[in-house]
Amino acid sequence: MALQRRLALGALTGGSLLLVYILCVNLESPLSWPAAPPKQSHGFTQARSSSSRDSAEPLDRQSNRDQCSPPPPTPTLPPGLSSGTMEPEHPLTPTPETQTATAAEHTPAENNAPDNSKSRFKSGVEETGSRVVNQGLGLQDAGPTEPPFIGDKYMSEDVPPQTNCSDGIRRRVNQTALIGRFLEGVPVLQWAGHVTREQHQRLSRYPGAHGWGGIEYKTLVETLSVLNSSANRWLLDDWTERRTTSECIRCAVVGNGGILKDSKNGKDIDGHHYVFRTNGAIIEGFEQDVGSRTTHYTFSTNTLMNSMRSYAGAGYKGPPMSEETRYVFLPDHDRDYLLMKAAATHTRVERGPEKGKDPAKYFGQDVSAEKLKMYHPDFIRYLRNRFLRSKALKTRYKDIYRPSTGAVMLLAALHTCDQVSAYGFMTPDFKNYSDHYYEKSYHPVGFFINHDLRMEMSLWQELHQAGLIRLYMHEEVGNHK
Ligand SMILES: *[C@@H]1O[C@H](CO)[C@@H](O)[C@H](O)[C@H]1NC(C)=O
Ligand SMILES: *[C@@H]1O[C@H](CO)[C@@H](O)[C@H](O)[C@H]1NC(C)=O
Ligand SMILES: *[C@@H]1O[C@H](CO)[C@@H](O)[C@H](O)[C@H]1NC(C)=O
Ligand SMILES: *[C@@H]1O[C@H](CO)[C@@H](O)[C@H](O)[C@H]1NC(C)=O
Repeated sequence: MALQRRLALGALTGGSLLLVYILCVNLESPLSWPAAPPKQSHGFTQARSSSSRDSAEPLDRQSNRDQCSPPPPTPTLPPGLSSGTMEPEHPLTPTPETQTATAAEHTPAENNAPDNSKSRFKSGVEETGSRVVNQGLGLQDAGPTEPPFIGDKYMSEDVPPQTNCSDGIRRRVNQTALIGRFLEGVPVLQWAGHVTREQHQRLSRYPGAHGWGGIEYKTLVETLSVLNSSANRWLLDDWTERRTTSECIRCAVVGNGGILKDSKNGKDIDGHHYVFRTNGAIIEGFEQDVGSRTTHYTFSTNTLMNSMRSYAGAGYKGPPMSEETRYVFLPDHDRDYLLMKAAATHTRVERGPEKGKDPAKYFGQDVSAEKLKMYHPDFIRYLRNRFLRSKALKTRYKDIYRPSTGAVMLLAALHTCDQVSAYGFMTPDFKNYSDHYYEKSYHPVGFFINHDLRMEMSLWQELHQAGLIRLYMHEEVGNHK
């Protein structure tokens, strides 16, 4: 209980519009579903090698049928929006029936771009610093039809792969239809070396998680300068200590979806080299189903505060803490930079919504700067543009739309691990499961405009069928009647 997901709060007028702010995101479950405990059989179904489009179609139609329910009668506000920052740029409304977008129709790169698959993921031999490139995407050529806020140009770094895994994602991806979307060298993480006037000018064009819009240069310098060690530059920074066990890096990425309830995946999850979790990841009492280790915890300051508030009753006490745990910020505002700096320097947050808070409360007394990481805004924008280009980008909600926190986590694993198993992510039978695995009674998944969970669901199916991830499911798409 105590999951007060839909707090009725209020509405806000902006210009002539009445923007309805809905809870939602709350913990932006990328992982959510309604339902009833299903049979706990199968597990991972075999990835099929057939073209992903075949199955994307039925999935699509299903999406149409499932179209989200009409807006609730009472406007609701996400807990995050009540905490000091009333962000007019964050109106959240249930997604209208425009959600038929599938990954397939969002691949301008596949259709228009020169084939640069040869260069995908090739191992760079040296680090040549950073540069911004347009890697032959159709988008620039699209010119007038591509709104400037899209910004399909990213910093590129030559970073050698951490392994030579013979059966990894890097090897497989160029044999799939998804190859056109992958770019080599977009930095997953940002760190001290990325802050320059030039980069600030470039990234200031993009608001929220997609750039540095609205964040002062001074703030960036002061905060990102603490992320100055090599551990801050690598998502899997301790691989050299683990590599003796394998030539391939195996990652378990754990969403919070209800499909995990009674799934008995715990041992399997903990058996991976790395275990990723996000937001309201409640472990205690659920170890049999979700495992107990956490190497990477992904969150925004906003979603963390929401989780602490909304899921306390279900047992969420804060981010997991262990010797191997790293904290990966998905920065959305300057409050993320400020909390990160406070955590790294063992000081209280100097200003903003978290002013005066002691970061030890969230990350423990022993957290060091080496345990902290931050996603690069170019990476988030790249994911949005190339993997999750929702139709929401063609609406007035374009500035608040972004991939969900769970989607960013899973796609970050896809870009850094050799093998990825995804658990607790949304599947086509999501209505059979509650929103989260720790809910005692059924809560349906909510759909809101700041994320496109149906598009994410389609992407997971596509990646699974292409053999790039193993998605934990009860039903194979196409088999469901
Ligand atoms: C999901 O629910 C539908 C109908 O509600 C049912 O037909 C189907 O068998 C369920 N699937 C699972 C895996 O429980
Ligand atoms: C991968 O192979 C290349 C070429 O043999 C080698 O130079 C590189 O060090 C290897 N990388 C790792 C991480 O083993
Ligand atoms: C895919 O990439 C791997 C490793 O870079 C390479 O060995 C292989 O030939 C590529 N396959 C195709 C079809 O390009
Ligand atoms: C990294 O930043 C910390 C905190 O600002 C500072 O104490 C340290 O000297 C810096 N290290 C390097 C190598 O710049």
